[in-house]
Amino acid sequence: MAIPQSFLDQLKMSCDIETIVSSYVPLKRAGRTSKGLCPFHSEKTPSFVVYHDSESFYCFGCGAGGDVISFIMRIENLGYIEALKFLADRAGLPFPEEEREDPSLRIKPLIYEINREAAHFYHDQLKSDVGLSGREYLMGERKLSAKTVTKYGLGFAPPGWDNLRNHLRKKGFSDEDMLAAAVVSRGRDGKSVYDTFRNRVIFPIIDIRKNVVGFGGRVMDDAKPKYLNSSDTPVFKKSRNLFSLNFAKNVTDSRLILAEGYMDVIAMNQAGFENVVATLGTALTPDQARLMATYAKEIVIAYDSDGPGRTATNRAVGLLEEAGLKTRILDMKGAKDPDEFIKKYGSERFKMLIDGARNVTEYQLGVIRAKYDLGSDEQRAAYLQEGVSFLASVPSDIEREIYGGRMAQEAGVPREVVKVSIDSVRKKNYARARKKESSDLQSGRLELKMGRKAGDAAEDGLIGCLYYHPDWAGKIIPKVDESALSEETAKIYRLLLEMQRTGGGTLSDLTPKLDEKESGRLAGILARVSDGQLGITPEALGDYLSTIENARLQKTLNGSGEMSLEEAEALAEAIRRKKLKR
Ligand code: UTP
Ligand code: MN
Repeated sequence: MAIPQSFLDQLKMSCDIETIVSSYVPLKRAGRTSKGLCPFHSEKTPSFVVYHDSESFYCFGCGAGGDVISFIMRIENLGYIEALKFLADRAGLPFPEEEREDPSLRIKPLIYEINREAAHFYHDQLKSDVGLSGREYLMGERKLSAKTVTKYGLGFAPPGWDNLRNHLRKKGFSDEDMLAAAVVSRGRDGKSVYDTFRNRVIFPIIDIRKNVVGFGGRVMDDAKPKYLNSSDTPVFKKSRNLFSLNFAKNVTDSRLILAEGYMDVIAMNQAGFENVVATLGTALTPDQARLMATYAKEIVIAYDSDGPGRTATNRAVGLLEEAGLKTRILDMKGAKDPDEFIKKYGSERFKMLIDGARNVTEYQLGVIRAKYDLGSDEQRAAYLQEGVSFLASVPSDIEREIYGGRMAQEAGVPREVVKVSIDSVRKKNYARARKKESSDLQSGRLELKMGRKAGDAAEDGLIGCLYYHPDWAGKIIPKVDESALSEETAKIYRLLLEMQRTGGGTLSDLTPKLDEKESGRLAGILARVSDGQLGITPEALGDYLSTIENARLQKTLNGSGEMSLEEAEALAEAIRRKKLKR
């Protein structure tokens, strides 16, 4: 990486990890660490820790970790160089101009270009003779207007293996670059290259900067899979993008509608609702919930009304509320999804449905109520019981008051009775939650302390020692058989040795060379050293080295199916000797 070291040093000095992280995550300081709720997974008890001494962060819940640069890469979804620029910008440092060697900086614009060209191609195909079946499907069967088709730039991928590939080739793009954009795929033989989308109608996925980032493609009959989505590329992360956000973001409404798929979003748009988004063939993620929170205060969930739709709804409610959003749920009767509802009953009634969407509490209570026959005393009591335990879990005082009152009325008992019952259940729940939290924390810590496996813990220890005592490298190298280490450990091990040879460094010097998982692993090791859970004394190192060596011998022995009896015995003997020596 050809970024001048002087610039990196300056940047590191001006970007205090705690200051930067706390602009995204509220942190509480305690001694040499600060704690908060992890922004990379959803949780209720803080397990995200910033370590001031090692200038690193680590989440004990999801294993995310690294330095301030990896934090920015992850939370802003940026490449390494982009993250440096982002931080330089924030710190008011000029970015060194001539150095722009990050391959992701070259490939990204190229992928955008390929995607744009592909989208044009698909759209032109839809309008041409070959696109007749696509037009019949979209405009005939799905009742989309020409205006809607143009607005979304919908397209058609003709049957055949290389229509798009040939087109892009003529435009001068290489197979390698088309593969990077995922518009073509590689065959099982590892050589052939063919169009990813064939004989499908195409939905381009466009980000808020109007870049085409990927595609969805639907078959026009009952073939499987019904929808195909671009795989993730350097410009496209399914878990971080939302379909149609490019239109929805312009709406001044503080309310966004969350739908299940492409066709629902498009149908709602055609019916006059532009504030609609959908996930891209995956369940809603915390990233997407946070993304929505930057555009809206309230989300109306418009998922399918079937069983899986309900399950997805419940999951989404949790994520959205954790992102600080109010949620309401569309209660679609007489249709399985918004697309069908609009076709059947028209946009006027759909608008009424949206405006009347019930808040979550009302919706859940309705689901509970529907299970009982309120004409019978016994069933009324059962309704009360289930309703009380549900309402006890509702965080809002006002809602508990309102719906508790309503329930009391329905069941024919005094309000006060319901209120007292709810309060008593809440007290019990609270006590139970406190107990569980502390035992979870305990077992989480314990698990970390014990290490997942003795071998893993030893490898962690080895890395910790090498990181904090690079001068021990000379002692360590002759004793470590690299091939005995896990692939991840071996990579970090080699990087640390290389760093030591080239004059030393810290976590940030490794960030450009580590992926998210590796960076989390290393940060986790540093975290445990800081917490005193992982020793880095010469004695501890001795233990780690012999554990690793024993594990290696053990492995050789276990995998000794083809070994002769004598060889196996010799190995066993070697292990015994090793153990005696210790
Ligand atoms: P649905 O199967 O509910 O489709 O999938 P839909 O939106 O109602 O589609 P139509 O009306 O039959 O055309 C919802 C979403 O799940 C993803 C797609 O993003 C789709 O829009 N999905 C579905 C896939 O990614 N692959 C599949 O095979 C099916
Ligand atoms: Mn549908």
